[in-house]
Order: sequence, then C-alpha cells, then structure tokens
Amino acid sequence: MTIADDLRELIRTVPDFPKPGIRFRDVTTLLAHGDGLRRSVAGLAGLADGLDIDSVAGIEARGFIFGSALAVHLGLGFIPLRKPGKLPVATIGEDYDLEYGKARLELDPTLLKPGQRVLLVDDLLATGGTAVAGTRLLRRAGGVVNSAVFVIDLPELGGAGLLAEMEVAAQSIVG
Ligand code: PRP
Ligand code: ADE
Repeated sequence: MTIADDLRELIRTVPDFPKPGIRFRDVTTLLAHGDGLRRSVAGLAGLADGLDIDSVAGIEARGFIFGSALAVHLGLGFIPLRKPGKLPVATIGEDYDLEYGKARLELDPTLLKPGQRVLLVDDLLATGGTAVAGTRLLRRAGGVVNSAVFVIDLPELGGAGLLAEMEVAAQSIVG
C-alpha cells in the first residue's frame, strides 16, 4: 500500500456538507491518528525536499495545523494567512471564492522581507480559490511563491491548473 492509499483511508468523506452535492473531505480523522499525522507531515516534508524556501505559510484553519507542523519539521518560521478580523495590526486582504462559498484572507505584510521565498501549505486543494488568494497576498507583501503543497488534491476541481497559471507548482500527497 502506498503512503497515499494509507492516508486516504484515514480521511473521512462526508456527503452533502456544508452544502448539498459537496463531498467533504474531513481531515479530523487523520489528525486524531498519531501515525497518520506523523506520516502526513513527513509526506509534506518529502514534497518540500529540494525546494529553495525560507518560510512556510499556512491558511487558516486546517492549513495552520499541517503548515506549522511542517515548519517545525523543516526548522523554518511560519506565516499565518488569517480569516478576516483576527489580526491586531494593519493587514492586506484578498476576497475569493471556494468550492462552497466565499471567504477572505488577511496577512500582516511586515512578517515578510522583500524576496523571501515562501512555501504555501494547506490541507486540501479544490477549486484553488483559496491558494490563489494566499499566493496573491504573499506576493503583495514581497514574498516569492513558486510552490505549494497539500495533503489532498481534488484534481477534478482544477486547482492545480489555476495555480500553474500563476507559476506556482502544486504537489499533494493524496491526489
Ligand atoms: C478549505 C480547505 C482549503 C480550501 C480549499 O478551507 O482547508 O483552505 O477550503 O478550497 P478551494 O481550493 O476551493 O479554495 P475552508 O475555507 O473550508 O476553511 P477551514 O480550513 O477553516 O475549515
Ligand atoms: N474545501 C473545499 N472543498 C472541500 C471539500 N470537498 N472537502 C473539504 N474541504 C474542502
């Protein structure tokens, strides 16, 4: 069994959440499994191997869990891309559409230095709306974003193609 098959079995699929027609990939079952969590983070580190990066950025909320664990694993700092109204300082923001609605991400741009190379991390890539918004924000703050890693990709929703148009290479453990 591959690492992908192994991890896929630990991810719960919930039909019709949060809206009818959506097959929700629930990673809480994977997170609660000690070895599954360890292998997920090791798998992300494997995808990041050889990439020229200075920092890891993660997207609230599920991207914080995998992103911060990966940052610790790699010995790098973690940059949080937050949902609106959470940061106590001046922010820049991007509104976007995702598979089941609309949302907004915010960033404190002073967390990045010009030219800082950032790896974007999230649990799941669906339409790519979230990851594109995250990339835009990091770039507006002076970051260089060439790569993004995900635990799960839902390829039928086209997210990797959207990221490729922005010259961001997307990789995932479970495709
Ligand atoms: C989920 C997931 C990704 C995003 C992917 O986040 O964690 O961030 O959707 O969808 P997309 O590729 O269509 O944009 P959600 O906004 O549901 O937030 P959560 O992490 O707080 O649950
Ligand atoms: N984010 C966007 N689409 C999703 C899905 N099908 N399952 C879990 N998270 C998602």
